[in-house]
Amino acid sequence: MSAKPMGSANVPRHIAIIMDGNGRWAKARRLPRIKGHEEGARSVRAVIRACRDAGVEYLTLYAFSVENWIRPPAEIRGLMRLLKKTLREQEFELHENKVRLRVIGRLQDLPRDLRVELKRVMRETAHYASGNLILALSYGGRTEIVHAARQLARRVANGEISHRSINEKSFARHLYAPDVPDPDLLIRTSGEMRISNFLLWQISYSELYVTDVHWPDFRDEELAKAIKAYAQRQRRFGDIK
Ligand code: IPE
Ligand code: IPE
Ligand code: MG
Repeated sequence: MSAKPMGSANVPRHIAIIMDGNGRWAKARRLPRIKGHEEGARSVRAVIRACRDAGVEYLTLYAFSVENWIRPPAEIRGLMRLLKKTLREQEFELHENKVRLRVIGRLQDLPRDLRVELKRVMRETAHYASGNLILALSYGGRTEIVHAARQLARRVANGEISHRSINEKSFARHLYAPDVPDPDLLIRTSGEMRISNFLLWQISYSELYVTDVHWPDFRDEELAKAIKAYAQRQRRFGDIK
């Protein structure tokens, strides 16, 4: 996520990743699931760096879904602790590379200490424009769409806007991060052929890339493969070419 070769031909401007398979990675090694999450956090750091080097402007990472709250409390606690630790470790690099941190999702659901840290780092990096790291936390695509609909309904009820002014553009302005362009490339690790409630609105024309590699094993080389596959895609957006 840097200004370096920004916009180079065939490099996706925005990559979104469903970071899946931490548990399976750990299970295959007879380790507790949290060890998979810890190794996954190292992939997060590696992929952030690799995206920056490749000239990717926006990187969105699906770190915790609204559905993930049904997991055992001990796993949730471990994940929240790890998120805080990873944020602390990553903070220096965000400043060094002038990368702006943002969060999409129900921030209010997160433990207070993590929320305070996130808000602080978001505030301190808000003026950076060399790259964007977007964390999806307590995120649900349907929740986001309902949230936007509710805001619009309120504005109509208040007489601020007419229902006739609601169109795709004005609707999208009420999503969590309205100024962020739609993902060009959506990556899912660990092989599942599903979206799991991620960015439902924004991925309407994203290129999909699913790899069997578990997230803790997804580093520079795997990212390079995904970008290479993307470069060979022909995007048509409904047109004929
Ligand atoms: C992804 O790995 C991390 C989160 C969803 C937080 P999983 O924990 O879902 O790993 P698997 O899918 O059980 O292997
Ligand atoms: C998707 O992974 C959510 C994140 C990566 C944060 P899950 O492991 O929760 O997805 P499902 O339940 O297998 O669809
Ligand atoms: Mg999973």
